[in-house]
Amino acid sequence: MFSSKIVGFESYVPKNVITNDELSNIVETSDEWIYTRTGISKRCLSTNENTSDFAINVGKKLIENANISPEDIDIVIVATITSDYLTPSTACIVQGAIGAKNALAFDINVACSGFVYALSIADKFLKSGVYKNAIVIGAETLSKLLDWSDRSTCVLFGDGSGGALLTASTNYNSIIAEDLKADGISWQAITGGKLNNNNPFVEEKEQSSFYLQMNGRDVFNFATKTIPKSVNQVLSKANLTLDDIKYIVPHQANSRIVEVAAKKLKVSLDKFYLNLQNYGNTSAASIPIALAEMSKNGLLQKGDKIIITGFGAGLTWASMLIQI
Ligand code: ACO
Repeated sequence: MFSSKIVGFESYVPKNVITNDELSNIVETSDEWIYTRTGISKRCLSTNENTSDFAINVGKKLIENANISPEDIDIVIVATITSDYLTPSTACIVQGAIGAKNALAFDINVACSGFVYALSIADKFLKSGVYKNAIVIGAETLSKLLDWSDRSTCVLFGDGSGGALLTASTNYNSIIAEDLKADGISWQAITGGKLNNNNPFVEEKEQSSFYLQMNGRDVFNFATKTIPKSVNQVLSKANLTLDDIKYIVPHQANSRIVEVAAKKLKVSLDKFYLNLQNYGNTSAASIPIALAEMSKNGLLQKGDKIIITGFGAGLTWASMLIQI
């Protein structure tokens, strides 16, 4: 019987840091509005790198840290809504660049829940006993998907990448319980990247916008309802309580969402790890960037139990109880 052991986390963000004040030179906004509504102070934005560049950096570091050969990697999964191309997948570009020539590779598109979904998929591959090592990456260049004249969205997001290396194990299980769901009825709450059908045979040309659009209030309500429900789901599946959990690492979208969720869960805000003040919402990258930062800062020790919980476009949500 095989299970998945998480070997390590890594992250990479572009060097170009843009503060709220700098954004107020582009759209009518202020540091005060952005910070009080969201908790975000700055974000890293790409000027010359693509999603694959971020993910390649993370993939190489994961392999180097684990002291294994790229040829030992069997699976590369990239969770992203901002793939360099619609085809090929970003995962294939990463697989080639890191020299993981024995690996299968594919992307998944589950927005801000993407990293948790990707971990779950990798876990099933590793449990099969057929595959040994998996690289799972969340990577986004959301700055490409934003309308930089729309202050209601452009101030919220950032670019970056994070990931984990998992290995099949017979004596350690990192993935204890999960709750992965979707509510496709509500897909219109967040949309982006619409491809218009304007071939020569179309009589009425499509005009819809490529840019990310979101009903912020609806997403806020959805997230504050979903996080507590989903966290309780994984706790109940694992037969554990919040006292057993060292940290909850939520998708980093808005600190006010997390404050409401903490209240509903009747748990101190300190239990949640938040770093969105420095990165903004990096969609599929936000949870692994947080995990890599926590790991680097010594906050995660072997045996610690944490819950990661993502929510976003789809609508989708996904929580996972992990043992470090
Ligand atoms: N600066 C100044 N004013 C602004 C800005 C801005 N950047 N953006 C909007 N406003 C104005 C609006 O025009 C509005 O003005 P009006 O009252 O005169 O019409 C006012 O501020 C209030 O706007 P609201 O949208 O009602 O503000 P709200 O308090 O709901 O906050 C926010 C908006 C931050 C987007 C919030 O709703 C939110 O965080 N929602 C959740 C978003 C989220 O979690 N997304 C995650 C998924 S993303 C994904 O999956 C890719």
